[in-house]
Amino acid sequence: MRILVTSLKGGVGKTTTAIHLAAFLQLRGPTLLVDADPAEGALVWARQGAGLPFEVASPEGARPKRFEHVVIDTAGHPKGKTLREYADKADLVVVPTSPGMLSLVSLEQFAKELRGLPLKALVTLVPPFPSLDALRTLGYLKAHKIPHFKNVIHRLAAYEKAVLAGTVVHNVPDPRAQRAWEEYVMVGREILKR
Ligand SMILES: Nc1ncnc2c1ncn2[C@@H]1O[C@H](COP(=O)(O)OP(=O)(O)OP(=O)(O)O)[C@@H](O)[C@H]1O
Ligand SMILES: [Mg+2]
Repeated sequence: MRILVTSLKGGVGKTTTAIHLAAFLQLRGPTLLVDADPAEGALVWARQGAGLPFEVASPEGARPKRFEHVVIDTAGHPKGKTLREYADKADLVVVPTSPGMLSLVSLEQFAKELRGLPLKALVTLVPPFPSLDALRTLGYLKAHKIPHFKNVIHRLAAYEKAVLAGTVVHNVPDPRAQRAWEEYVMVGREILKR
């Protein structure tokens, strides 16, 4: 399976999503994460030390044919050429989207740009209960007929700790680390069910 993780907006959790979906897929088969962001977020993550359970490579260094699953992480607002190159070959285009009107408007704009492709929005950085942001955002996506994951990703400090440690979130010492990991497992299961 080839999954492209991309968005118009920056800082919405693309790299966090790409890392954790790759970790999930690696449990099913050899998985490669291609870091197509010139800022090299995923490569930096991989270099932090603790180690990731899958291979991370630059587009130049990637040998995707050797892998069962390939996840591609891009920069925010990727160049049209980069986007087309990867999007056309993807089985699924995951677009992380934080709650909030501006984020949703930029998602709709992006969805138009990617019309015809298997796009699925993932609501990320959801504030904790009792915020109604997740419900509101999911309601908006439904009303506007934008395909999306039913499961959402909450804003949890454990994810930030995972970047610093260069590992997958379930490995960090944080009381919510397991819950954070399970959120991505649920999203991964939605992907496999398609
Ligand atoms: N669910 C989350 N909870 C808390 N912090 C998060 C979460 N997801 C991402 N972050 C943090 O938010 C910041 C941006 O996340 P990330 O780098 O994954 O986004 P991005 O879309 O890849 O950004 P860019 O567009 O710059 O590549 C990072 O510091 C990351 O650790
Ligand atoms: Mg990134």
